[in-house]
Amino acid sequence: MQNNPREQWGSKIGFILAAAGSAIGLGNIWRFPYLAGQNGGAAFIFVYILCVISIGIPVLIAEILIGRTAQKNPVGSFKALTNSKFYHGIGGMGVVAGFVILSFYSVVAGWTLGYLFEAVNGSLLSYDLAEEASNHFSVLTHDPLWNIGLLAAFMLLTMGIVYFGVQKGIELGSKIMMPLLFVLLIGLMIFGLTLDGASKGLDYLFNPDWSKINSDVILAALGQAFFSMSLGMGAMLTYGSYLTKKDNIPVSSIWIAFLDASVAIIAGICIFTVVFATGQNPDVGPSLIFRTLPVVFAKMPGGWYFAVFFFFALTLAALTSTVSLLEVVTAYFVDEKGWKRKNAVIVFGSLVTLVGIPSALSFNALENFRIFNKTFFDLTEFISSNLMLPLGGFFIAIFVGWLWGFEKVKQLVKEGAEKLFDKFPWVMGYWKIILRYVAPILIIIVLLYSIGII
Ligand code: PFF
Repeated sequence: MQNNPREQWGSKIGFILAAAGSAIGLGNIWRFPYLAGQNGGAAFIFVYILCVISIGIPVLIAEILIGRTAQKNPVGSFKALTNSKFYHGIGGMGVVAGFVILSFYSVVAGWTLGYLFEAVNGSLLSYDLAEEASNHFSVLTHDPLWNIGLLAAFMLLTMGIVYFGVQKGIELGSKIMMPLLFVLLIGLMIFGLTLDGASKGLDYLFNPDWSKINSDVILAALGQAFFSMSLGMGAMLTYGSYLTKKDNIPVSSIWIAFLDASVAIIAGICIFTVVFATGQNPDVGPSLIFRTLPVVFAKMPGGWYFAVFFFFALTLAALTSTVSLLEVVTAYFVDEKGWKRKNAVIVFGSLVTLVGIPSALSFNALENFRIFNKTFFDLTEFISSNLMLPLGGFFIAIFVGWLWGFEKVKQLVKEGAEKLFDKFPWVMGYWKIILRYVAPILIIIVLLYSIGII
């Protein structure tokens, strides 16, 4: 069915940057700070890091290994590795999750693009008071055309990159965008640290009040670890499918997780130093960065540059994530249905944009349209992030831990990582225990909790 030989990453670093690009996105710079703000700051961050190390990295290794072994999209990979129709369905759920996440994620990504324009034309710098900046955010998000136009613009950017394929599109784009993002964020963090009152922000971020840890915090942290590492829906599996046996999966995974968590922490420092220096509230929720940052940009010397840099960085971060989401859907139609990449990108990119419209309207025209008491945006986010991702992660852990045959799995994961396992033989046993017991049990708890059963 395939018309061309399957593409591969051009270099090791190319894969790490592309996978880190998928992981690092709105989840780190938009979602992580507001969740930390709502869940008590340092205590949440501590649990989140624990989740990344103990569960995130082992599941990431498992997901990439499936893709590298089968060299296919999520559905094709499970078809290649098992006869179980159920698991073919799990692959299918990943493709659907990619489609659905992309549809609402691009709405928020569109806001970042909109704020980039606002920053460039200087209108973001005209708000001295937090309230004014907040009102401006409400005015913008209440405009249906603003939302839909930016959603479409962002999807076009995403389609433009995926259109050019793995090496010339995704890898090249990530190699340019990721280093730029790191430099911009580190610059902003240094500025944040120089503000009067920055130390209160640091205190909030790094000085845990252990009494704040409760089941809600743990569950929010685990959910965030999954979302942030792009786990559970086959994005990392698909990126793994462009790897060769020479690549070291465990070490690459540690790098990806390290970069992902570092960017979240750096973004946290950028935002909370500002929030506390300007006397704002850390727990306002999803609009946090859009409401808080303009105020400081207006006050700081060179604020225009910082505003432009910040929203440019955020747009880049979101773009390398939306690219990975569209790639999952594209790879499925290319591998399984024999479509040409370019056609798949145009057809499904356009469809995602259409499906995104009700999400874009959830902040204005469809604000009061509720299903299960949720707007369309909240519902699609809930179903995909809180249900499909953890479910996918659960079945990936079960597959690699129990069903695939662990003797075989051991050989496969060692390929490219011989030295690591020779030096630290306990790593294999640890990985196995996490996949078999720890990850599935914890994920099930999160899942039951998020649908309100416990
Ligand atoms: N990891 C991305 C972020 O933190 O913004 C979001 C994401 C991308 C989730 C790709 C899932 C995915 F497959």
